[in-house]
Amino acid sequence: MKINNKISFVLDGKIQEVEFNNIEYSPTTTLLHYLRTLSGHKSVKEGCGEGDCVACTVVIADLVKGKMQYRAYDSCLIFLPSVHGKYIITSENLGTSDNLHLVQKALYEFDGSQCGFCTPGFVMSMYALYKQENVPDKAEITDALAGNLCRCTGYRPIIQATEYACKNKTVDDIEKSESKTKQLLNSIDRTLTIKIETDEQKYWLPFSKTEALKLRRDFPNAVIVSGSTDVALRVTKKNELIPEIIDLSQVVDMSFVSESKDIITFGANYSLEDVRLKSKNKLSALYEMLSYFGSRQIRNRACLGGNLGSASTIGDSIPVLMAYDADLYLKKAGAQRKVKLREFITGYRQTLCEKDELITKVEVPLPDKDTIVKSYKNSKRKDLDISTVSACFSLKLEKDKVVDIAIFYGGMAAWTKRAEKTEKALLGKEWNRTNVEMAMKELINDYKPISDARSGAEARNIMAANLLLKFWSETAK
Ligand SMILES: Cc1cc2nc3c(=O)[nH]c(=O)nc-3n(C[C@H](O)[C@H](O)[C@H](O)COP(=O)(O)OP(=O)(O)OC[C@H]3O[C@@H](n4cnc5c(N)ncnc54)[C@H](O)[C@@H]3O)c2cc1C
Ligand code: FES
Ligand code: FES
Repeated sequence: MKINNKISFVLDGKIQEVEFNNIEYSPTTTLLHYLRTLSGHKSVKEGCGEGDCVACTVVIADLVKGKMQYRAYDSCLIFLPSVHGKYIITSENLGTSDNLHLVQKALYEFDGSQCGFCTPGFVMSMYALYKQENVPDKAEITDALAGNLCRCTGYRPIIQATEYACKNKTVDDIEKSESKTKQLLNSIDRTLTIKIETDEQKYWLPFSKTEALKLRRDFPNAVIVSGSTDVALRVTKKNELIPEIIDLSQVVDMSFVSESKDIITFGANYSLEDVRLKSKNKLSALYEMLSYFGSRQIRNRACLGGNLGSASTIGDSIPVLMAYDADLYLKKAGAQRKVKLREFITGYRQTLCEKDELITKVEVPLPDKDTIVKSYKNSKRKDLDISTVSACFSLKLEKDKVVDIAIFYGGMAAWTKRAEKTEKALLGKEWNRTNVEMAMKELINDYKPISDARSGAEARNIMAANLLLKFWSETAK
């Protein structure tokens, strides 16, 4: 395979090329650090370097089926090679101090900025909303801004500024130059795998599943990234040098959704924000859980395959998809197998996925009309926090008796586990408070949680029991 060592993307109205031969940039240089080396993009701020403050937000536009799609991302969590073929927009590209863009002007006029450190991040989150087709309502605005932290200004003026800008959209310079931008993006090849090799690292960016599987076969020890919201922290926080990376973020044939009468299938590369939106009416427990998953910036980037593949006990989609009894497809070059998600995780961060396999898609059966599925997340704060304890329950009643129940908790063991003894205590019984309170006592036989910085073991036991009670109180007739 030819080594290209070079990526191309659109920034400042022209194609920029980055060579990885020089010592300035490595393949795991983040987009944030790259932009901070440029004199014209210092608005992009580094706060935490781990996705928690969102000061580093940029908008990245992609040409999808001939249409530009603008989304907000944390630039601190994106490895530079993965912006190949994309269009990067920072606050400097929107307007200048004597010719502000409407979102910038609104923020200024509604008193939405004080010290200003967070302001360019807000501007870019607002701009992504401004570029979406519909005019966002207040709930959508607060969701899109939930990750942007501000220490000085109250959120009210920022929300008002966003509402104003989105209601009074005009054709801006970015839109005026859209056809030129499309031409530039179309001129960048996105078929031949990008292969970067420096003295210390190898990085592959394939564009098809077939290529990705070949790389997986040939380099079984390479770290896989899809959205990189987990893996990037190994670099930004632990200063780890990752020697080999296969980046799936541009494998388009793993990023899809399809639907039949009984099943919704998500490609492993489908972003969690897209999964959330698609789930809204048919898989409500998944929609609810993903609505409290990270920030919009994280969900735009993180993929279902990454959440399942990392097999964390606090991976929020896992208990939900287990309750829905989802199936995973594990594929290697020349072969494929289907496994139950309920059996996929075999130990602490251990899964059935072999070193030459990738998760390619996830099939989620739609529950029948008599089955109730609900999910819950307990965390120290409501937005942008990881779970202390999460749960998902699937319940079928006949004449108020439990005929089927599946209970899964995250955060209660080293990996997401089923509460089999608790289920047994409820099966065949009447769905009433006395029986549920009896079953709550069984949870201590299903789980032996640990104490850690997030919570004590005893508190976890209480939370788990109370979530079951809450589920009962929301479903009892
Ligand atoms: C600020 C912040 C907030 C967060 N909040 C939450 C939260 O609320 N809930 C939560 O659950 N998580 C949260 N996370 C963790 C993380 O975002 C999620 O686990 C996310 O789903 C990871 O997906 P990714 O695509 O970014 O994974 P990546 O970092 O790209 O990959 C993670 C691992 O998954 C495996 N993998 C990825 N794709 C595949 C594939 N196709 N086949 C096989 N293996 C694969 C690889 O082993 C890889 O090392 C948060 C992270 C941050 C930084
Ligand atoms: S620097 Fe804080 S989210 Fe990127
Ligand atoms: S204006 Fe100071 S952090 Fe937001």
